This record gives sequence, structure tokens and C-alpha cells, in this order.
Amino acid sequence: MIDPADFALWNSGVPRPYLKALSRDDLLAEADGVRVRDSGGRWYLDARSGLWNVTLGYGNTRVKEAIKQQVDRLPFANSHGYGRPAQVTVDCAEALVRHLPDGINHVRFASNGAQAVEMALLLSRFLRLRAGQPERMAVFSMWDGFHGQGPGAGMVTGVPYLHHQTGPMLPGIHHAPGPFSHGAVEGVSDMERLITEFGPERVTAVIVEPVVGEGGHILSPEYLGSLSRFCRSHDIHLVFDEVVTGMGRVGDFTRAGQLPDVSPDIITLGKGITSGYMPMSAVAVHDRLYEQLHDRTTAETALSIGSTNDGHAVAAAAALAVIGALDEDGVLENVRRRGADLVTALGKVQAQHPELTGVRCIGLFCGLEFGEPGGEAWTPGRVNKLRMALESRGVLSSSLRVVPNLMLMPPLVITEDDVAEIAGALDGALGDIKSGRMPESGFARAMG
Ligand SMILES: Cc1ncc(COP(=O)(O)O)c(C=O)c1O
Repeated sequence: MIDPADFALWNSGVPRPYLKALSRDDLLAEADGVRVRDSGGRWYLDARSGLWNVTLGYGNTRVKEAIKQQVDRLPFANSHGYGRPAQVTVDCAEALVRHLPDGINHVRFASNGAQAVEMALLLSRFLRLRAGQPERMAVFSMWDGFHGQGPGAGMVTGVPYLHHQTGPMLPGIHHAPGPFSHGAVEGVSDMERLITEFGPERVTAVIVEPVVGEGGHILSPEYLGSLSRFCRSHDIHLVFDEVVTGMGRVGDFTRAGQLPDVSPDIITLGKGITSGYMPMSAVAVHDRLYEQLHDRTTAETALSIGSTNDGHAVAAAAALAVIGALDEDGVLENVRRRGADLVTALGKVQAQHPELTGVRCIGLFCGLEFGEPGGEAWTPGRVNKLRMALESRGVLSSSLRVVPNLMLMPPLVITEDDVAEIAGALDGALGDIKSGRMPESGFARAMG
């Protein structure tokens, strides 16, 4: 029976007790800069940037004006199939490729990260079929990697519960431990070893996040350089999922751009591409793949994967404005400076609270690990309690369902004072946990 207290909104992917504990006062109603206000009237510093996507904060004039003007000028044109794309969509693709590593010169748009990931993998398989290699269909990804949810993206995501909840998903997907995984041997790439055992000639693509979002594990330049060379030597397509790391989060336009020894064949972008103001994602493809597609494609065999809103004109205008902000408003420099400030501030918190056992930060992408000093790591439930204690102190962060880490992913435009506020709230919240002072709201209790 429907409980009249339930919302009509069926919030995806959370159990009912959570929704029942969420009161109308907990809903977000308004935002200003890097802060959001709930309907109950409380303001929070949003150190998780919405869902890691509102990279320029909530009041960016450039993005808002670009959206308004595009709505007036031309809200939609068809970038799919035999349509005539909007001028702004082509301009956006050109601006993006100017910021991507050399050789990555073609962009296809989609509406969310999962679609971009699926498009990348299906493009890889498509090229194998075109090349007469139907046996080359396997895809390798990493345990604990995250690439989205659904039949394709959810399958490459290295989180097992996603693989079994709805029966068969995309076949031919294999997972390897990452260099950060429990039991991984230092200096040995399980990914390369497992692919070698499996047969590289049967592998079409490897997909990795250069910084693994579930915990903030920064894959080293050496690891990624070796993987890149391994993939090239076996003609395996290397897909860099930069849905989170792309668009400035790590202090440059992409993580790939910071790694001269790595040459991905495909880069996926999403999240910050429009700073969350419009839904959009992108698949950027290296010439060496695009040329194969182009040479062999006839009208009958074009890769028909796409959707009505791909390359949406208003989203493209928003993305162009975001690129403008990254180029001209000092955002990347701010990421580098505030990222360094955050590391310093977290180091001070760690000196007071040895239960903060690990701090991994690159730019404004931070994974924090907790445990009893010299003992067990905290459970995800305990980390979640900490997140709620932080919320009670006015700072929003992310805790993860499987991996016991707290993620700080603040907007790229935060100030020195914001960094101090985040670190101060964490210091206080760790004290709350130690002294057993727990957050008051039913929402907090349900989450704990
Ligand atoms: C690295 C990465 N790739 C892909 C996705 C999927 O993006 P979306 O939620 O827009 O489908 C996510 C989402 O968090 C992600 O972190």
C-alpha cells in the first residue's frame, strides 16, 4: 500500500527507510555560490558539488547567461542521425578538442556519463566487427572502478552488486584488481597480467578512471604509462573515463593532459562539462580510431547509437561557457592553490585525529580513509555517520556505499575561507563521533 507520507518522486537507488526519513525540510530549495539551502532554512557549504558536477558553483553568470541566450536563439537542433546540428554544438565540439590531448580531434555528445561510457565501448566493438575480428569483444575494467549504472556502464563498474540486480547485462566484461586493491602486489599490474592470461587478441578495450572515484585512488603515471604502452602494443583501445577528473577537477582540463606518457584512444567526459546546469556528456575519440571508422563506414554501417538530446543546443552553450570560465576566469589555478590548501588543512586535522588514516588528493578531488590507529578500517556505516555529523556542522560531503571513504569534491571556485570551514567542520565532526554526540535528525539516524 502506498503510504501517503511517501514522496511521488522515487529517488533512484536508495532504500525506502531513507526516503521515509527524509522530511520536506531536508529538500534543497535554493543555492548561492558554493552554498545550498534546504527547505527548513539551513544553509550548507556544498563540498560535494551536487553530485560532483556543479564545478563552478551555483551562481555562475557566464553559464547562466549563455543558457538564457541560447534558449532565446535556438533551443534545439538535431545532432543525431541525419539532422542538422546547431552551430553552437559544433563550436562546443571544436572548443573541447582544442583542450584535449593531441590527436583527440572528434567528439560525440550524449546526455549522461553512463551513455558516454557505453558509447565508447560499443564504438570499440563496432570497429572490431568492421575489421573482421568478431572474436575481439572482451572489455577489461577495474574492481572498485565506477563508470555509471545500467546494462553496459553498470557492468564495467567494478561493484559486484550492480552486476546481478536485474539478470543478464552486457556480456564479455572482465574485471582486474587495481594497484590499490587489497592483495595487489606492488609494481605488478594485475590488469596486464590477467589480459595476458586471457589472450590480448580477444580484448577490444580497457576502461579505467585515471583517479578512481570510489576512494580517490590516484593511479600513478608509471602504472598508467605502462598500461597505455601495453594496450598500444596489443592494439587494445584504452578508454580513459574522465567523467569526474575531466573539466578542471584535477587542476588541468583532463588528467590525460597531465600524463605525457599516456595516450588514450577515447576519453569520456560528463559531470562538470556543463557544471551541472544542463545534462550533457561527451565521447572524444583519437584520430587513429576515427579514421578507421571513417574509411570503412558506408551509409549502411554507420554506428547507430545515439539519442534525441545528444549535443543539445542549450547544453552545448552551457559547456562552451564552462570552457570559457576554465580558460579565462582562473579556475584551474584556483583548483591547484585551493587543492594545496586543502591538503595542508587536512594534514592538521589528521595530526589531531589519528583515526583519519589516509588523505588522497589531486586538485580538488579528495578521498579520506578512516580507521582505528593501527587497527581496523571504519565500516561504510561509520563513515556515513561522520558524513552526517559533518552535515550537522553545515558541510555536505559524499560517503560511498561499498568503499569506506569520505569524498570531498568541492566546487572548483572555493576560497581559502571555504577550505578552512571544511577542515574546521571535519575536525568538529570527528570530535562528535569520538564523544558519541550524534546528529539529531531522523534523516541522519536513518542514514547511520
Ligand atoms: C567516472 C564515472 N564515469 C561515469 C559515471 C556515470 O555518470 P552518470 O551518473 O552521469 O551516468 C560516473 C558517475 O558518477 C563516474 O563517476
